[in-house]
Amino acid sequence: MSKVQIHVDVNHPGATISRNLYGQFSEHLGRCIYGGVFVGEGSPIPNVNGMRKDVVDALRELKVPVLRWPGGCFADEYHWRDGIGPKESRKRMVNTNWGGVVEDNSFGTHEFLELCRQIGCEPYINMNVGSGSVQEMAEWVEYLNADGDGTVAQERWANGRKEPFGVKYIGVGNENWGCGGNMRPEFYADLYRRYQTFCRNYGSHRLCRIACGPNGDDTNWTEVVMKQAGGFMDALTMHYYTVPGEWEHKGSATNFDTEKYLRTLTAAAKIEPILESHLAVMDRFDPKRRVGLIIDEWGCWFDVEPGTNPGFLYQQNTMRDAMVAALSLNIFNRHADRIVMANIAQMVNVLQAMILTDGEQMVLTPTYHVFHMYRPHMDAQLLDTAVFADETAKGLKQVTASASVKDGKVTLTAANLSPDEEAEIELALPGLGQDTEYTLLTGAMGAYNDFGDGAERVKPAAVKGLKKAGEKWLLTLPPCSVAALTV
Ligand code: AHR
Repeated sequence: MSKVQIHVDVNHPGATISRNLYGQFSEHLGRCIYGGVFVGEGSPIPNVNGMRKDVVDALRELKVPVLRWPGGCFADEYHWRDGIGPKESRKRMVNTNWGGVVEDNSFGTHEFLELCRQIGCEPYINMNVGSGSVQEMAEWVEYLNADGDGTVAQERWANGRKEPFGVKYIGVGNENWGCGGNMRPEFYADLYRRYQTFCRNYGSHRLCRIACGPNGDDTNWTEVVMKQAGGFMDALTMHYYTVPGEWEHKGSATNFDTEKYLRTLTAAAKIEPILESHLAVMDRFDPKRRVGLIIDEWGCWFDVEPGTNPGFLYQQNTMRDAMVAALSLNIFNRHADRIVMANIAQMVNVLQAMILTDGEQMVLTPTYHVFHMYRPHMDAQLLDTAVFADETAKGLKQVTASASVKDGKVTLTAANLSPDEEAEIELALPGLGQDTEYTLLTGAMGAYNDFGDGAERVKPAAVKGLKKAGEKWLLTLPPCSVAALTV
């Protein structure tokens, strides 16, 4: 058992942790939208206006704050007018990015906003720069938010919605350095300036304009885009995926050894120095820190489940994913002064999902449970937290933590990343006692939930009791575990 100390400074609450750090991403990719959240009104699967009831209920329980759509790579070949109006006449397009399947556009703007309404979250629409026109983007914003009786707003009325939707978050292109057009940053920065000009504010609906940021550690992209276009944006994105190997051989989502487990966590932890390097560049061009950083896509990316369509990116989700989620969310919390949103990829059935479905069945993944346990951090004030722990792998501390305070209650989330060693954590927090209850999620590093009998193999449990050690209290974390404690 290793000894760890966690010091939380409860006397100096810091930045507010935006609830949007707990955001989600849903793309027209594999079974994320179709089958995952949307089954259509005629489906035998219980639904409300076509949205799966079981999935929406689980997402409401998670208090999902914001949902990004329609991509991803799909965004830059999506033409929004194909997804409005009578379903029978909607265009059938080939989803060239993801599996070459036919997209019938039965889930479009109105359906997405209905999904957000049901979940109770803010919509974030990522628009098309790569293959769309300025006029097309400008009219999409008008369609969403205009409250006059212009022709575009009337089109919305004709499709059953009189009131403007009031969408705030608008993304101007996705991965324009890659699938979104293979652009150089100089070219994108100019395009960004142009496209965003025509995304107007209508009435009281003020947009949050979001520019496409770098891939991983590409600070040159950040530098050029901030220099040329920083004054025209409210936020800049970055994408970072945890891949524990080569892109061609990422490894199985469920079948891995300790070395691969630790390699995954070490790769996940790298997001911290990378995001800090982008923030340092942003600070040079925006010293007043007006532009926020959005971690637009993050999470684990493994090989697809054997036998599934390689273009659908369907992977299982184990305790290893839960540890990556805990580690990443603690990092995001600790940078709450600069990170304004983070969206895990993706919400259902794709990559590091919250929820997996198979026909009418649904399972909640270990990652879902971590998000659930971290809910008290949303909109709470960050507390400075120092962790004194040994390394469990190269540069990776055995324990990761973050803490916040809201309504006089302190929440501490801590994870023991070691796959085989307990951690005894010495804590000094006002209000701790023998009866202190906390939530614990633990299991073997490869444990996962599956359809049928295995749906609840990994789930959080309420645990009571800390041990006293002088003035302090001891919290013992089993190997591969996450705890959330509120006092
Ligand atoms: O999330 C899957 C894909 O990863 C997205 O479409 C793209 O933006 C990224 O490369």
